[in-house]
Amino acid sequence: MVFDLSQSLPIACYLVRKNTDGRVTARVETISQEALPAGDVLVEVAYSSLNYKDAMACQGHPGVVRTFPHVPGVDCSGTVVESAAKDYRPGDEVLVTGYELGAGRWGGFAEYVRVPAEWIVRLPEGLSLREAMIYGTAGFTAAQCVTAIVARGIAPESGPVLVTGATGGVGSVAVAILGKLGYEVAAVTGKAERHDWLRQLGARTILGRDEVNDTSDRPLLAARWAAAIDTVGGRVLATVLRSMHHRGCVAACGLVAGAELPLTVYPFILRGVTLAGIDSAKCPRPERLAMWQKLAGPWRVERLEELASEATLDDLPDRVERILTGNMVGRTVVVPRTATTG
Ligand SMILES: NC(=O)c1ccc[n+]([C@@H]2O[C@H](COP(=O)([O-])OP(=O)(O)OC[C@H]3O[C@@H](n4cnc5c(N)ncnc54)[C@H](OP(=O)(O)O)[C@@H]3O)[C@@H](O)[C@H]2O)c1
Repeated sequence: MVFDLSQSLPIACYLVRKNTDGRVTARVETISQEALPAGDVLVEVAYSSLNYKDAMACQGHPGVVRTFPHVPGVDCSGTVVESAAKDYRPGDEVLVTGYELGAGRWGGFAEYVRVPAEWIVRLPEGLSLREAMIYGTAGFTAAQCVTAIVARGIAPESGPVLVTGATGGVGSVAVAILGKLGYEVAAVTGKAERHDWLRQLGARTILGRDEVNDTSDRPLLAARWAAAIDTVGGRVLATVLRSMHHRGCVAACGLVAGAELPLTVYPFILRGVTLAGIDSAKCPRPERLAMWQKLAGPWRVERLEELASEATLDDLPDRVERILTGNMVGRTVVVPRTATTG
């Protein structure tokens, strides 16, 4: 499609507003393309995805949304329709995750985004626009977590690897990648009905959430895990860190159960445990490109489509509620259309 900038085309988006009484509302609205922020490249969005951070943005969380009105959506894939940057031309298939997208800048829950050229990644060969957003920010983050574990020298024969929040976006992709690479994956979930699904994805054993939520003040617990990917934070992360093998590594990316970390230094100074922090939004470009190559190639999740469900902009209120209450499974691909835009 040719996007005529001389016309003020209406764009459907999911807009978060703060009313004069301080109340935050979010709904589908139509804006003019001229309202999009300045940037080098205009992209027609094919898909975005729903991440935990997007749900926070939809509620106007001050840690994510800087100014109102705001369009959430920390990632998107689509086709370039207008470019002032020499590296991109109309028709190029691209993706964007992180940076300020959907946080400091309007994001992917819209039919179009305008972004700085340096945020753009060309769609890797072997991935469709839809597959790129089945991974989305969550899959990209899972790949960074696995990379941190591998970089610490932890191999499949080192021992079992724990994944918390295993049915969630980051967790499910992490289970699938680790399983594919031959690791013995122990998946932690609060969803009893999803045990078989997790086993098919790549988990060897399943644990309930209470099995990794130690309330004692013991500085160290029995050493169980060679590595772990934690999406949950709080007392769960503290439990996991106290349960690592000597020289184990925990890649920590999330906080769905809390931001605090009640811990002593003993896991670090007696067991040499590494706590690897994962920050996908500001991942340096060379690492970012390498990560997408892995996701499209050697780490490609088989049957990726089975992780996905689809939502339009109209479906977002229900999906946001689901992710914020810990009831989401896998990945939600967002098609930035409405019942009326088709
Ligand atoms: N650092 C980064 O760059 C980065 C990037 C992406 C995401 N994140 C963070 O990673 C976390 C997960 O993101 P996501 O998009 O994967 O979210 P998600 O799809 O909602 O997954 C989170 C999962 O955690 C489990 N869970 C929920 N509430 C819990 C609780 N109170 N206690 C224990 N487990 C709970 C649930 O899985 P089960 O039912 O299977 O237990 C849930 O599905 C979020 O905190 C997000 O902000 C960080």
